[in-house]
Amino acid sequence: MQSAIVVEGLRKTFGRQVVLDGLDLEVRRGEVFALLGPNGAGKTTTINVLTTLVSPDAGSATICGIDVASEPDEIKQRISLTGQAAAVDDVLTGTENLVMLARLSGLSSRAAREKAAELLARFDLTDAAAKRVGTYSGGMRRRLDLALSFVVTPEVLFLDEPTTGLDTRSRRELWDVIRSLADAGTTVFLTTQYLEEADQLADRIAVLDDGRVVATGSAAQLKARIGGDTVELHDAHGELLREVPTDGTVSGLRRALDVLDESGAEGTVTLRRPSLDDVFLTLTGGTAASSRFTAADSEKELA
Ligand SMILES: Nc1ncnc2c1ncn2[C@@H]1O[C@H](COP(=O)(O)OP(=O)(O)OP(=O)(O)O)[C@@H](O)[C@H]1O
Ligand SMILES: [Mg+2]
Repeated sequence: MQSAIVVEGLRKTFGRQVVLDGLDLEVRRGEVFALLGPNGAGKTTTINVLTTLVSPDAGSATICGIDVASEPDEIKQRISLTGQAAAVDDVLTGTENLVMLARLSGLSSRAAREKAAELLARFDLTDAAAKRVGTYSGGMRRRLDLALSFVVTPEVLFLDEPTTGLDTRSRRELWDVIRSLADAGTTVFLTTQYLEEADQLADRIAVLDDGRVVATGSAAQLKARIGGDTVELHDAHGELLREVPTDGTVSGLRRALDVLDESGAEGTVTLRRPSLDDVFLTLTGGTAASSRFTAADSEKELA
C-alpha cells in the first residue's frame, strides 16, 4: 500500500541555523503519527514544509505520492492544517465562521449549518455559537480553530500541537475526535511535546531532536529499546529502597522478587515500565532542552 507521507533527506536552514538536518520519515495511510520533540526541534518547520508553506533547501517530500515542492496545489486539496486561525473572523459568530468555511468548501447551505452545529457541539461551543468570536476566551478560540480544521475531512490532517492551551476535558475529547477520524481512514500527522499524548494517541512516534529523527516506532517499541521493567521496593513513605531490573519474563520477575526477599527489606513492591520520558532522555542523551520533559511535567500537564 502506498504511504501517506514520505520524507527523504529534508534540510532547512534559516540563516546559519540548521533546523532540519536530513529528516527522513514515512507515515502509513490511516495511522496517527506523532512527531515528538522539545521546543525548537523543528516540528513546526516540518509541518510547514509538508503543507507547502515553506520550501526546503534539499531533500524531498511526497503526500499520497504527490511531490510537495512541484505540485503544491494538488497537495492543498488533500490536506488540512490547524493553525488556520487566520481564517477565524472576530466579527462573525462561531456558527457564522464554520458555515462560511463549509460553504466555501462546497457544502450546501443546509449541510453547512448541520456541520457547524455538529462541530460546535463536539468542541463544546454550542453555548457560544451565536456570540462573536471577538468575545471568546483563548481556549474557546483554540477550540473553534480546531473545529474549522474538521469542516472537510481531508486525506491527511496536520495538527501542530493540537492540545496546547486546552483543559483536560477538551484535550481528551480532541483525542477521541482524532482517533475516530483515523478509524474512518484519515491519516493524522501531529506534533506534540507531551510524551503521554503521543503514547495515548499515536500508532507510531518519531522522536525529533536537532532536526533529525533519532527513533521511530510504536510507544511499546520505543520503550523496549531502553530495556525492560524494573521491580521497585518502596517504604511506607514511598521512598525507593531497592530496584531490580528484569527482562519482562515470568521467571525473570520471580528472580527479581527473590533478590528483594533475600535482602530482607520490608516494603511495598511495584513494577515500573519504562516511560516515554525515559525513552526520550535515553535517545537524546538528556540534553538541556529535553531534560525538562520529566515524567512529573507530563503528568502535571495532563492531569
Ligand atoms: N521563519 C523562520 N526564520 C528564522 N528562524 C526560524 C523560522 N522558523 C523557525 N525558525 C527557527 O527554527 C527552529 C525550529 O523551529 P520550529 O518552530 O520548527 O520548532 P518546533 O519544534 O516547532 O518548536 P516549538 O515546540 O517551540 O513549537 C527554532 O530555533 C526557530 O527559531
Ligand atoms: Mg512548533
